[in-house]
Amino acid sequence: MGDVIIACDFSNQEALFEFLKPFEGLNPYLKLGMEIIYKEGPQLVKKLHDMGFKIFLDLKLHDIPNTVEKAMRNIATLGVEITNCHAAGGIAMMEAARRGLDSTEEGKKTKLIAVTQLTSTSQEVLEKELLIEKPLDEVVKTYALNAKKAGLDGVVCSPLEASIIKELGLISVTPGIRFADDSANDQKRIATPAFAKENGSTYIVVGRSITGAADPVAAYKKCVKEFC
Ligand code: C5P
Repeated sequence: MGDVIIACDFSNQEALFEFLKPFEGLNPYLKLGMEIIYKEGPQLVKKLHDMGFKIFLDLKLHDIPNTVEKAMRNIATLGVEITNCHAAGGIAMMEAARRGLDSTEEGKKTKLIAVTQLTSTSQEVLEKELLIEKPLDEVVKTYALNAKKAGLDGVVCSPLEASIIKELGLISVTPGIRFADDSANDQKRIATPAFAKENGSTYIVVGRSITGAADPVAAYKKCVKEFC
């Protein structure tokens, strides 16, 4: 089932469509996040869905259960393949998110995954800022078990933690992907596409290593070759 998902972190749809031009015929899986959605709104999701793109809508919902359920009811009308919420919102919030998605036939087919810990969070930040004095992989495992209890399909985590998630019978969607010679930028827990495959990631999410490459199509093909 493995797939490479391109993180389309563009500020507007003109930039996205310009980026997608050379990908014609390749029909890549796209991740749309808050940057572009806050500019273009959910109409962009419908437009890309109608054009035949598979979409991971990465809005990372995190609020009281009632608000998350109602927000997911609206997302359930968009026909996206994957969407997410933060596991830090708790089991009741994740259950509410699933209920919201299940309100439409299309939404029932949408995979719901929970963000465990952001791939930009280090052990030091976890302990000193979030006051969670546990090893990162233990925190990820506990959050993943909570997601499973809430009836979710899987989690967002670092490729370094993908093997733990596989053992739990959940899917893992893993950002924090870099080629061996790339800059980490703000990411902390990174790995190559080949390592992600070896460690059991179900999907990899790749942003700047593709969108910032001199030849984005070649970088995408390199990811597919290493991962799929
Ligand atoms: O450019 P880069 O490959 O670092 O992009 C990673 C993408 O994955 C970004 O869109 C970011 O919002 C997202 N993401 C992440 N870590 C998570 C969840 C999502 O980096 N835990």
